[in-house]
This record gives sequence, C-alpha cells and structure tokens, in this order.
Amino acid sequence: EASTQPVAERTLVLVKPDGVRRGLSGEILRRIETKGYTLRAVELKNATTELLAAHYAEHEGKPFYGPLVEFMMSGPVLAVVAEGDGVIPGFRSLAGATNPTDAAPGTIRGDLGRDWGTKVQQNLVHGSDSAESAAREIALWFPELG
Ligand code: TYD
Ligand code: MG
Repeated sequence: EASTQPVAERTLVLVKPDGVRRGLSGEILRRIETKGYTLRAVELKNATTELLAAHYAEHEGKPFYGPLVEFMMSGPVLAVVAEGDGVIPGFRSLAGATNPTDAAPGTIRGDLGRDWGTKVQQNLVHGSDSAESAAREIALWFPELG
C-alpha cells in the first residue's frame, strides 16, 4: 500500500572550505542538530568545476562567480543533507545574512564569520533557498539519495 506520508522536508547544507579549514564543521553540525533537525547525509567532498557550475548556475556571469568557484575548490567541502519541518528556511535563519559583516549575532555567519578582504564573501555555509533548489542541489551532491 502506497504511503500517504509526505516526503520529509530536506535541505542541502555545505560547510564551505573556510569552515572546514577553520575546524568549524563540528560547531556547524552541532547548531543544526541542537535546533532539532536530523542529519540524513554528511560527506567530505572535493568539488569539481562541473559540480560547482551546476550548483551555482544562477550566479554565472556575476562579478563574484569566478572567485566563488575558485574559493569553493580551495579545499574540501562538508556536504550535508538536513531534514525536518521548515528546515529550508530554518537553516537559512541559522546561517544569517550572506555578508558575514552584516549577519546578526546568534547566526553561524554572524558569530563565526567576518570579512577577510577577499573578492568573495567567505561566509562558512551554503543553504538551499527553496524547495526547488533543495531538490536540485541534493541530487547534484548526493545522486545516491535520489
Ligand atoms: P547568494 O546565493 O546570493 O547568497 P547565499 O549563499 O546567502 O544564498 O550568493 C552565493 C555566494 O556567492 C554567497 O554565499 C557568497 C558569494 N557572494 C559574494 O561573494 N558576493 C556577493 O555580492 C554575493 C551576492 C554573493
Ligand atoms: Mg544562494
């Protein structure tokens, strides 16, 4: 008998290379878990240009695109699928504003991030911005979960 349960809400989180390098992966996973979300997949990955071109397709052509892709390939990324009702906007709230200088204290970017004078905002985390983005991004980073 087919289940009538809706598929649980999932988002793709990336701990970016700055977060992994600074040893903040555990702190960021802790914030996701203490908020009450469930970790469904966690894997350290070295992103390829192809993967990042697909992941950041919406930003192609913008001035920060080249530096962003280069930064995302500067070291391993911790890819995470987190699950729970409201997790897509919920993780965006945990992450805080894109620019870590503007991000509110209490958020990941506000508490742990700053401006380092680079061409790209090194803001520790990525989180999917909509249900459509989450489905697309999870399929890119974790094809085996599809
Ligand atoms: P964006 O999707 O707008 O932000 P968010 O990660 O909050 O969804 O942009 C993707 C990444 O590109 C962002 O995390 C950091 C980088 N970026 C810059 O370096 N400068 C910018 O002006 C913007 C808008 C983004
Ligand atoms: Mg975005």
